[in-house]
Amino acid sequence: MSLDIVILAAGQGTRMRSALPKVLHPVAGNSMLGHVVATARQLAPQGIHVVIGHGAERVREALAADDLNFVLQAEQLGTGHAVAQALPALSAERVLILYGDVPLIEADTLQRLLAQVGPDRLALLTVDLVDPSGYGRIVRDAAGQVVAIVEHKDATPEQRAICEGNTGILAVPGARLADWLGRLSNDNAQGEFYLTDVIAMAVADGLTVATEQPLDALEVQGANDRIQLAQLERHYQLRAARRLMAQGVTLRDPARFDLRGEVSVGRDVLIDVNVILEGRVTIEDGVEIGPNCTIKDSTLRRGAQVKANSHLDGAELGEGADCGPFARLRPGAVLGAGAHVGNFVELKNAVLGEGAKAGHLSYLGDAEIGARTNIGAGTITCNYDGANKFKTVMGEDVFVGSNSALVAPVTLGDRATTGAGSVITEDVPADSLALGRGRQRNIEGWQRPQKKR
Ligand code: UD1
Ligand code: CA
Repeated sequence: MSLDIVILAAGQGTRMRSALPKVLHPVAGNSMLGHVVATARQLAPQGIHVVIGHGAERVREALAADDLNFVLQAEQLGTGHAVAQALPALSAERVLILYGDVPLIEADTLQRLLAQVGPDRLALLTVDLVDPSGYGRIVRDAAGQVVAIVEHKDATPEQRAICEGNTGILAVPGARLADWLGRLSNDNAQGEFYLTDVIAMAVADGLTVATEQPLDALEVQGANDRIQLAQLERHYQLRAARRLMAQGVTLRDPARFDLRGEVSVGRDVLIDVNVILEGRVTIEDGVEIGPNCTIKDSTLRRGAQVKANSHLDGAELGEGADCGPFARLRPGAVLGAGAHVGNFVELKNAVLGEGAKAGHLSYLGDAEIGARTNIGAGTITCNYDGANKFKTVMGEDVFVGSNSALVAPVTLGDRATTGAGSVITEDVPADSLALGRGRQRNIEGWQRPQKKR
């Protein structure tokens, strides 16, 4: 049966106290709405319709994608009114309603819900709550059949005692929706067109209402303020940490690990505390990551080591390569197998061949460095003249003396050596030594200046 998904995302979210529209607030590095859209896509619907209102333009810009249909709800007159705005675009046999501020809902749960909906049956996702205040209550008859949802503000004291709450997520037969929404009234405590009133209408029309529950109540938890946002974040992170541990990763402390993107992991990976993984990260077998590292859009090959306090962005570490502590690998940094980058070394668009080393305090940008070449402490590739970038090329087994300034474009041939403190402005042939520094002059018997008495 065909499926349309409507995601409600027009609300203001006053309690966030933010210039950013509520649904754009991030959980695990992706906006709440981004998570919902990603989950919606997993259900392969024929259409995804996002109802926007507050901050509409920013939301539209942030999420823009060919498969999303944005529908403007200029005034927020209630959840029923919001869904009604999408009606002209709906044509599927089933319509599923989701919420842009309920980010952790899982595709499996929604599949279970969708399995229940049919031409004569609605499917409602409900949740048993210790404190259901604020939620719509699921009203059942003596036989246990759902007959209505009553909003908290409209509920009688008896109804308020019901602990089964409405998550808001429901699936309905598409053919009936226009008729029900057209009959909604806003004659209620909040003066809104309630989507939830559709339930009683459906029952009156002779349909039945099936219910499903999420495995975990946090799946259907919305974030109205930053405290709830933080709770969802921790929940998400713990779930991510458990998944990684199940795949063979040792996390020194699962409570001090953050995934803000996607990671694929091998076996026997060790991740110390306060590591943040962002974007798409690939970690192969036996990799070790020290404490306080940020690793974004990078690949760590088998047995690679990232030592404490290193920052990687768009980098690749070959088999057995290592970096840090305090290494900064920027986009295009590639370490060949067994290569080594030590403390306070920055790489940008620089490729180190197999076994090459840059142990300390260097900047290597736009550089191609051959196998086993050794870069002395304090070496700088001067790759930028203020307008253009130039390349530094080094062959194999080169030895760059400490504090060399390599003024690009420049090439150092295989087995070339530069003397410490050299400013290298011309190419260095293979097997030769380049000295580019002032000669030392000694002044004997030199008197230091004296302080006046
Ligand atoms: C709604 C449900 C309630 C349920 C609760 C779960 C209704 C009438 N009530 O109540 O039964 O227990 O969710 O959290 O549906 N929105 C729009 N346009 C509008 C109004 C709302 O896009 O005109 C969006 C909001 O941005 C939000 C969602 O719909 O994402 C829910 O709206 P909200 O006002 O928070 O509904 P509740 O009062 O919480
Ligand atoms: Ca709400």
